Formats: sequence, structure tokens, C-alpha cells
Amino acid sequence: MSYRSTMRRGFVKACFGATLVLAFSGCRQDMHNQPKYVPYRSSEFFPDGLSERQQVEGTVARGQLHEDSYFYSGRVGTKEQDMFPFPITQAVMERGRERYDIYCSPCHGRTGDGQGMIVHRGYRRAADFHDQRIVALPVGHYFDIITHGFGAMPDYAAQIEPADRWAIAAYIRALQYAQNGTMAEVPGDQRGSLKDASQITVEGVSLPRALASGGQGSSEEISAAGANPLPASEPQQSTEGTRKK
Ligand code: HEC
Repeated sequence: MSYRSTMRRGFVKACFGATLVLAFSGCRQDMHNQPKYVPYRSSEFFPDGLSERQQVEGTVARGQLHEDSYFYSGRVGTKEQDMFPFPITQAVMERGRERYDIYCSPCHGRTGDGQGMIVHRGYRRAADFHDQRIVALPVGHYFDIITHGFGAMPDYAAQIEPADRWAIAAYIRALQYAQNGTMAEVPGDQRGSLKDASQITVEGVSLPRALASGGQGSSEEISAAGANPLPASEPQQSTEGTRKK
């Protein structure tokens, strides 16, 4: 192949490349500048200056007929109530446990003590569900907090359906009974089968000591004193320290 024809080929290739670049950058601009309104952007098209249309009075958007307002709010009037909008069955509890473990335990911990993994890594201490103040709150409040968030806690309205929020609220009650329940609250026919905490062992370690290790249940996690190896006041430091090594 002669020098000239190589040059010509090179030139043709370069032209082709440039055309491609121009064509695609054109596409990109089109995709970027779509003639659309992002939510709440103003508009000159409508006399009221809003790009969004108000709901027509007396109509309900599909999927938004929130007839049963307690189910959607946890409130009667403005007051949160301590009742569930549907019967709590075994299936509801199991669903609640599953959703709780996914969405709440990273911060509140599997047992609800507010010492989840994210808290151990330095997030603001999450509420301890066994704290008397939290136990005394009505379940409608738990529902409301999942819907709207609370302080440093984000809301989970987009991730958790209303029915699942109630299932989680029911499971939080179960967690609370698991730590604060009395024998009087156990159905009569099941009392005989209960063991005292001191009789239960997890991998050869007594239950209170296993729980003190953060619920990991492994004897390696437990210090000689049987205390939580991560001091409650400075959990971030102790875990950060081990991670950086
Ligand atoms: C990212 C961490 C995080 C997650 C996940 C989380 N929380 Fe929280 N939660 C917190 C923190 C932090 C607080 C304390 C808020 C504060 O003091 O600012 C809190 C407080 C609470 C409180 C106490 C409210 C009060 O009135 O004192 C409840 C109840 C609660 N959370 C329920 C839940 C439930 C139910 C879930 C799961 C759907 C959940 N949280 C998921 C971090 C979290």
C-alpha cells in the first residue's frame, strides 16, 4: 500500500470518527434537554404559574382512596392510638419480624436495644425499644415514625407499605414483651414449658452473657468480665480501632 493511500484512508477514518462524535453528542443533548417539567417547576403555560395541575375537586387519584384513615395514619383525629387496624396473626408477626430485620435492625439491633451495626459504626444511637418511655408509646406512634421519620432517623414510607408498617409495630411489641413481659402475661397452658433465663445457654454461654455480647452468641465475643466488649458510651471508637488495623 502506498504512502498516499494510507494517508487518504487515515483522513477518511478521521472524518468518519468526527461525524460519529458529532452525531452522538447531538443525541446526548436531546436526551438531556427533554421538554418536560420536573416536579414543582414553574410554568408559563398555565395561568396559575404551576406546572402541576391540582386534583379536581371531588375526585380520587387511582390507588389513593385512603378511606380507612387509621390504617394510613395511626391516628384518630390528631391523637396516636394504641390499637391495630387489623387482627395480628402469626403470619403478620412473621412478616413483621422479616421486615424489621431488613429495615430496622441495622440501627435498632435484632433485639431492639438500639445498638445495631450502623450504630456500632458511628451512627447516632437509635432508640432502645425496651426503654420505658418507648414501651409506653402507642403503636400508632411507631407507625407514624416509620411513615415520617424522627430526628436523625429517615422515614421509610417509600420502602415499607402501610400494612407492613403495622406488622413491624406488632413485632416491636413482641420484642418488648420478650424483655419486659411478666409470667402473668404468658398464656396459662404455656407457662410450664418456659425456662428461666439462667437455665438457657447459647453455645455453652449463659443467655444473659450471650446477650451482653451484642447477641452474637459466640463465646469469643465475650470479655472475661462477661460485659459488653463495646462500651455503650463510645462504640464507634472501639470498632473503628479494630477496623483500621
Ligand atoms: C439509619 C438508622 C435507623 C433505622 C434504619 C431505623 N431507625 Fe428508628 N431511630 C433511629 C435513631 C437515630 C433514632 C433516634 C432519633 C433521634 O434521637 O434523633 C430512632 C428512633 C426511633 C423511635 C423512637 C421515636 C421516639 O418517639 O422517641 C422509633 C419508635 C423508631 N426509631 C422506630 C424505627 C422502626 C420501626 C424502624 C424500621 C422501619 C427504624 N426505626 C429504623 C435510627 C434508625
